[in-house]
Amino acid sequence: MTREQRKWQHVELALRADARPETSDFDEVRLVHRSLPETAVKDVKLDTALGDLMLSHPLLINAMTGGSAQTGEINRELAQAAAETGTAMAVGSQRAALVDGRLQSSFRIVREMNPRGVIFANVGADVSLDDMARAVEMIEANALQIHLNVPQELIMPEGDRSFSGYLRTIEQAVTRLSVPVIVKEVGFGMARETYRQLVDAGVRIVDVGGRGGTNFAWIERERRGDGRYAYLSDHGQSTLVSLLEWQAAQASLVCVASGGIRHALDIVKAHALGAAVVGISGKALRAVQEGGAARLIEMIYGELDELRVLMTLFGARHLRDMQRVPLLVRGEARAWCIDRGID
Ligand code: FNR
Repeated sequence: MTREQRKWQHVELALRADARPETSDFDEVRLVHRSLPETAVKDVKLDTALGDLMLSHPLLINAMTGGSAQTGEINRELAQAAAETGTAMAVGSQRAALVDGRLQSSFRIVREMNPRGVIFANVGADVSLDDMARAVEMIEANALQIHLNVPQELIMPEGDRSFSGYLRTIEQAVTRLSVPVIVKEVGFGMARETYRQLVDAGVRIVDVGGRGGTNFAWIERERRGDGRYAYLSDHGQSTLVSLLEWQAAQASLVCVASGGIRHALDIVKAHALGAAVVGISGKALRAVQEGGAARLIEMIYGELDELRVLMTLFGARHLRDMQRVPLLVRGEARAWCIDRGID
């Protein structure tokens, strides 16, 4: 199977219902209601900063695809919606286009459709520093996402088997590239130990990429078709637990919350837990499948409207004010915190 075919299978499987559980750890978080918020919807400001990058609102269309004609069409729709709504957007892994120049157009389209937008390049931690710089240049990216997807690679029969040297590459990328580096998971989440390693490597921005939405352990198991590694389907930390671990690490990291974000209430909860930006992938893909860029534009504007309403409900004029809202964590996430000494 070619890399292009594999990427298309990822899209098809991500759209299948089993890839996305309906329940979420975010349901275990309760934000305390206040009866006198003393604010108004018109006073709400949604601008946020991801390190030095200023964004007009906190939504990010997170890394998905590119690398073939079909996926280039999806990128075109995603980019059109990003341009119209002023939403930051990441492309999917550019590795294939670094090897075969003919595939670059499916990524470049994202910049062509959105000349002034905030766009992130995306590669794995196994590519060379030169290739990282080429990936950035290919789409004139404002930042580079370096994805970490070890479980996915290991479940894939054709996946990588060696993962040493990643930290060193990340460290070099942070010091030598001309744009900020965001280290991201792809749905397996992060924990204190990882955050500390990343801080030591000089990383300033992480995308927790937690469990709870698109599930690559499930997707790769389906692709294998032999039922092996089924027990890894709930491997990793949920997005909520990854955020709680990030808080406990007290690391100087700016944080993107992503993985299974369903609606505006999940978004305000992520901000209450300290996230600066919130990424959506599977949900954006489904919107494009249902009704192209127009449907995604409608969805993004709808989420932003609801976000303003919910921030008003909790008395927050700026996203950072959400961090002052008292919250309770129950259930499995609470048990995790107790076991891990997080209070
Ligand atoms: C992804 N994701 C992803 N991430 C990445 O860093 N590079 C990539 O190439 C891809 N490819 C990809 C393809 C498809 C079809 C999907 C749906 C997702 C992972 C993505 O960025 C995100 O981390 C996870 O999907 C979790 O977020 P959601 O989907 O639960 O919102």
